Amino acid sequence: TYPAPTELLDLARTIALTAGALAHRRRAEGVEIAASKSSPEDIVTAADREVERHIRALLADARPNDGFYGEESDTTDGTTGLTWVVDPIDGTVNYLYGIPFYAVSIAVVQGDPDPASWNTLAGAVVNPALGEVFTASEGSGAWLGDQRLHVNQDVPLSLALAGTGFGYEAAWRVWQANVVGGLIGQVRDIRRIGSAALDLCSVACGRLDLYFECGLNPWDHAAGALIVREAGARVGALQADAEGRDLLIAAAPRLYGQFEPVLAELFDRFPAPVQEA
Ligand code: IPD
Repeated sequence: TYPAPTELLDLARTIALTAGALAHRRRAEGVEIAASKSSPEDIVTAADREVERHIRALLADARPNDGFYGEESDTTDGTTGLTWVVDPIDGTVNYLYGIPFYAVSIAVVQGDPDPASWNTLAGAVVNPALGEVFTASEGSGAWLGDQRLHVNQDVPLSLALAGTGFGYEAAWRVWQANVVGGLIGQVRDIRRIGSAALDLCSVACGRLDLYFECGLNPWDHAAGALIVREAGARVGALQADAEGRDLLIAAAPRLYGQFEPVLAELFDRFPAPVQEA
């Protein structure tokens, strides 16, 4: 037996708030690039690592037998069936440049740490630069602070404000840009906010109508996907298709239904590059 999702959410929120405050403080002191990952553009800062260590230590204290799956450190399998899925700073490039759209994302999932099969019980996404706290627990709705969130309903695709993002690998992002080029004439406009977690929360609170991205990692979307689903979105296609595209789409159900065939047509028109291992 597990604690109630609302109890798990209290812990996720409390830890994400202190982690957000730490990230924010470190930003004010100056950002240090610690390493690059998949490409020179794909960076990790000293703060990413420190904030993940901070979150990990607090979780180990509060829930020592749960698993941990974070962006910047090794995975630990737990014994309780619960795993914490953590992105210490989602939107690291925004963080580097001082653009106030970066977030701490903490989710707790039940089952394998594989988004295709897990069940997310609670999630918190904190944007410390704007002081915004997005939360959801399974079955209890999505919230921005104490305000209940609902996705925009009845927006036709032609009037939809769509968000998306790009991976870091060169051939992959050129393909993503081609898809965006094919979409731009079919929607109101497109935004690239720079944090998948905040993109999902933006759909939840109506700042975007639709979000899609290929090639995300589980920690980018674990908390945000629950938040946007609890705000009434349909969230789909988390698993890689035959072309290796690990796709995530989130929108109100009717808009999702309009968007899916349009995206499928764009995928036919622009074949995906072979992904680097
Ligand atoms: C990135 C952001 C970005 C998305 C990339 C992610 P990071 O995460 O969420 O918006 O487009 O695909 O990798 O590297 O800032 O944690």
